[in-house]
Amino acid sequence: MSDLRHITEAQQFDRDIMADIFRVTREMEQVVQHYGSNILSRRVMATLFYEPSTRTRLSFESAMCRLGGHVITTESAQEFSSASKGETLEDTIRIVGGYADIIVLRHFESGASRRAAAVSQVPVISAGDGPGQHPTQALLDVYTIEKEIGHLDGISIALVGDLANGRTARSLCYLLTKFRDTRIYFVAPQVVRMGEDIKEYLTRNGVHWEESTDLVETAAKVDVIYQTRIQRERFGDRVQDYQQARGKYIIDKRILDCMQDDAIIMHPLPRVDEINAEEVDADPRAAYFRQAHNGLYVRMALLRMILASP
Ligand code: CP
Repeated sequence: MSDLRHITEAQQFDRDIMADIFRVTREMEQVVQHYGSNILSRRVMATLFYEPSTRTRLSFESAMCRLGGHVITTESAQEFSSASKGETLEDTIRIVGGYADIIVLRHFESGASRRAAAVSQVPVISAGDGPGQHPTQALLDVYTIEKEIGHLDGISIALVGDLANGRTARSLCYLLTKFRDTRIYFVAPQVVRMGEDIKEYLTRNGVHWEESTDLVETAAKVDVIYQTRIQRERFGDRVQDYQQARGKYIIDKRILDCMQDDAIIMHPLPRVDEINAEEVDADPRAAYFRQAHNGLYVRMALLRMILASP
């Protein structure tokens, strides 16, 4: 089994590690069906969240509970932890590492989980850092693609929406380089186009990518549409840019009508208005709720692989 400790960025995973994780993830689906396990009964997980979350925090906490472990937690950590008194992230990590066997950290600064891992005596898992990365989301996204489409080589995918600030889309791009014949189409409003660092990484790793302004045309030729929210919270006082970007690309019946029958729509969620819920949610190709549920199984697998004794 692959040796996992800290999880701070998607680049650390190769195909073999992902295959290991997904094998354990499938086992975890069975564990949940059979009402859980006690394999982590003596272990404690701390969730430190400096930014809001529903899916990531609660799925990690549920994952720990379903494996018999215990959870200590602080949400709104900027306000409710001693960060509000000026404590550094590094000191908080040093302290919490004395109380817990693993730390799950969401932070508003890119690179925060790497900083945390550098001083931590226990494993640190990134739960998303600012506009940087969200590696466990990317793992559950790839797991979902394999489960829904049936394979990972030869996938064509449209990444849509706020790609400049989208940590999920960025982490997913890193993972997609591990598979053969991937084709990526970026469909983003002008003010939030995908960063040059990711495009250069894809090119260096031989992945075909292109930018498009036509979602209808792109939707017809891909296996996966990965829609993302225009993130108001990342625009600061650039209100005009936000207004320009918002509402430009919406998944609705018009897009459904031109998609292939076996293609899927994914979204890391939360969504605001970039998917027309009334028109799209009931379509079997809408995979985003199944995708979010897969997060529980993937995170159970990660906790088991990092914490359980062999
Ligand atoms: N996908 C995701 O990270 O959702 P949350 O912000 O609710 O955790």
